[in-house]
Amino acid sequence: MLDKINVLREELEKIAASSKEEVEELRLKYISKKGSINKLFADFKNVSPEQKKEVGNAINTLKNFALEKINALKDSFETTSNGDFGLDLTMPGEPMKLGTRHPLSLVKNEIIGIFARLGFTVAEGPEIEDDWHVFSALNFPPEHPARDMQDTFFIEKDPDVLLRTHTSSVQIRVMEHTQPPIRSIFPGRVFRNEAISARSHCIFHQIEGLYVDENVSFADLKQTLLQFAKELFGEGTKIRLRPSYFPFTEPSAEMDVSCSICGGKGCNVCKYTGWLEILGCGMVDPNVLEGCNIDSEKYTGFAFGMGIERITMLRYGIKDIRHFFENDVRFLKQFESAI
Ligand code: PHE
Repeated sequence: MLDKINVLREELEKIAASSKEEVEELRLKYISKKGSINKLFADFKNVSPEQKKEVGNAINTLKNFALEKINALKDSFETTSNGDFGLDLTMPGEPMKLGTRHPLSLVKNEIIGIFARLGFTVAEGPEIEDDWHVFSALNFPPEHPARDMQDTFFIEKDPDVLLRTHTSSVQIRVMEHTQPPIRSIFPGRVFRNEAISARSHCIFHQIEGLYVDENVSFADLKQTLLQFAKELFGEGTKIRLRPSYFPFTEPSAEMDVSCSICGGKGCNVCKYTGWLEILGCGMVDPNVLEGCNIDSEKYTGFAFGMGIERITMLRYGIKDIRHFFENDVRFLKQFESAI
């Protein structure tokens, strides 16, 4: 028995390995459950009682020696390859992927910035509205087609609950609890029951503007919008106001800007007219002011409203409005480089 132990000891003194796999083979051969040292423990019961102490000690010493040797070999592979723990702490970290801002948010923030410099504050209102704020207070007659189910999403159980079709509802909410001077813009999401196509969607975004004070005139409206158009589309931009109709403004107009793509010469984006329609506007109808308890003899105001999708599409040459809502990262990451 002691001879066997000595033979193994000699073998173990010489062991060497050139790979982790070879270390594993050695471990299996000597110190695993079925390894040679464990076999010695099995034979131990046949040792005579007088020899038990000596042989027992020898086996234990051998086992410890084997463990030390094999662990040392194992460590040598783990430490020589890649530094401690197999990690190279000097390697650069994995870069964190940062998101980019949505193109609609970029344009919205730019528009807010332009009006902020002109002294407009920002306010918001609810997307789920009632008839009063979306229609009645804005002078829509009861039989107006916009009130039709075909244009507006109503809640079936209660026809007084609906999704706002424009951000003009926020004008009313602000005027109901603020006396002039009021100079604010209202960005927000709106809903219309429209068939989804490349040019229209049932969900989109608007920015509404409202300025009410003493002596506010149509000239103020025109100058404010000209300044806005120049800042958004470039210094050389021209504007054109065409007469239009909205129940809540009188007079009303639609504003075109000179086509920023062809510079007004005519191209397929402006349909060879040189002009692009971007917003509706007008002087706040005195009925609307009175409905909100604002003295229409003392105060006048202007309002305007624009679609953020349309402006963003013009700005970046986007051909299909549905891209904004599909959240395809290949589309989204084109607009702002990660910060
Ligand atoms: N609310 C109108 C629309 O959605 C736009 C508008 C706002 C027109 C304010 C005039 C004044 O089309």
